[in-house]
Amino acid sequence: MEQNRSSFSGKLGFVLAAAGSAVGLGNIWRFPYLAAKYGGGIFLLVYIALAVTFGFALALTEIAIGRKTKLSPIGAFSSLNKKFSFIGILGSIVPIIILPYYSVIGGWVTKYFVGFVSGNASLMAGDSYFGDFIGSTGEPVWYFLIFIGLTALIVLLGVDKGIEKVSKIMMPALILLILIITGYSLFTLDGAWEGVVYYITPDFSKFSVMTVVAAMGQLFYSMSIAMGIMVTFGSYLKKDVSIEKSVYQIEFFDMGVAFLSALMIVPAVFAFSGGNEEAMSQKGAGLMFETLPKIFDTMPGGNIIGAIFFVMVFFAAITSSISLMETVVSTITDKFKLNRTLSCLVVFLGSAAIGLVSAFGYSIWADVKVLGMQFLDLFDFASNSVLMPIGAFATSIFVGYVLKPKSIIAEVEGLDENGKPYHTFRAKKMYSIIIKYIAPVCILLILISSVLDALGIVKI
Ligand code: PFF
Repeated sequence: MEQNRSSFSGKLGFVLAAAGSAVGLGNIWRFPYLAAKYGGGIFLLVYIALAVTFGFALALTEIAIGRKTKLSPIGAFSSLNKKFSFIGILGSIVPIIILPYYSVIGGWVTKYFVGFVSGNASLMAGDSYFGDFIGSTGEPVWYFLIFIGLTALIVLLGVDKGIEKVSKIMMPALILLILIITGYSLFTLDGAWEGVVYYITPDFSKFSVMTVVAAMGQLFYSMSIAMGIMVTFGSYLKKDVSIEKSVYQIEFFDMGVAFLSALMIVPAVFAFSGGNEEAMSQKGAGLMFETLPKIFDTMPGGNIIGAIFFVMVFFAAITSSISLMETVVSTITDKFKLNRTLSCLVVFLGSAAIGLVSAFGYSIWADVKVLGMQFLDLFDFASNSVLMPIGAFATSIFVGYVLKPKSIIAEVEGLDENGKPYHTFRAKKMYSIIIKYIAPVCILLILISSVLDALGIVKI
């Protein structure tokens, strides 16, 4: 199987594909809201500090496990230790849950892009437009199917000709587009610069343990940790690529886009609402599909800016959804020895069926609630707040105490034909300490707080 396994053509393809997975809706709609809520600059600093320590150690571990075993998550963990194969199973379930609902939102993004391109900015800025749209049974489903169909087509093309090629085009384009919109909104909106000051200045009065917990939860989701993705991508990685450097580069992308998204959104919302801090409290879908269209509608050339914004979000979303689908396809291909075409078809049909549940959760099944949540929120909660932290906790215990950090360090360093390390792993001491002692504690903190948040006991 090893000889037939696909691979990235080189380091750039891998880094951009992994960055494509990391950079997604989470960077654009969640990070800005959290930064505004948790004290701006102080949240940024905490996020960066966690990314280069805790996030770094977990992402590096998964990529190394993938490259060492050359297998997708289930096979990877069971080949290392049969007793811990459940980690691989957890890691494979998470993308199966996320892909369908993520693609439903991807469908909404596609719809808004089409709307702005066709010159309907004022219509889309209407008060009940978004609610009416997701509450209908036709369009959201069609756009969802288009989005997931495109995702399947890209995955079908294979690792180097599909994911890698698409990421090499979309990721640089995304950066360019986000710079254009940020620049345009900062220079055209009155009061935007005060918003920049509001966003960047650290507000220590908003710092608490919840700042750290919120930053940690965001980091997890954003870096696609404990979802089997980094293991799968690592399995396509050649030995001559430095995992350590690659992880720093992926994180640089992830933090850069999160920072720029907030620089684009926080000052715009701040200026639009006349400096009202409460305006930022609308998170997620409300911010992206209600507040921002209203802001675009007031700008000169709003149709164009709106279209550029949604094409940028589309790139961010589809590069994440292809990473999710690739992981599921890879798992099925390895496990059932199916070819890529058949696996893609199975995953496409399965995800389309599961996604309909989320799509209908706002229309015909709007009254059905489980644990007080709509289907989409329930899937989000089960994957991000419960399964992911459990998987990451188990991974850190497994690597820290059973497999031992030295085994990961050996994979990161690699050995050439003379038995000499291929790469120097500069942060290896820090890595061992984090994976053994710091990561398990931090992850438990995330798990407890996100369950308490979902139960309404604390609010993140
Ligand atoms: N990291 C992506 C984001 O921030 O939106 C989302 C994501 C991608 C989540 C891939 C999960 C995943 F497996």
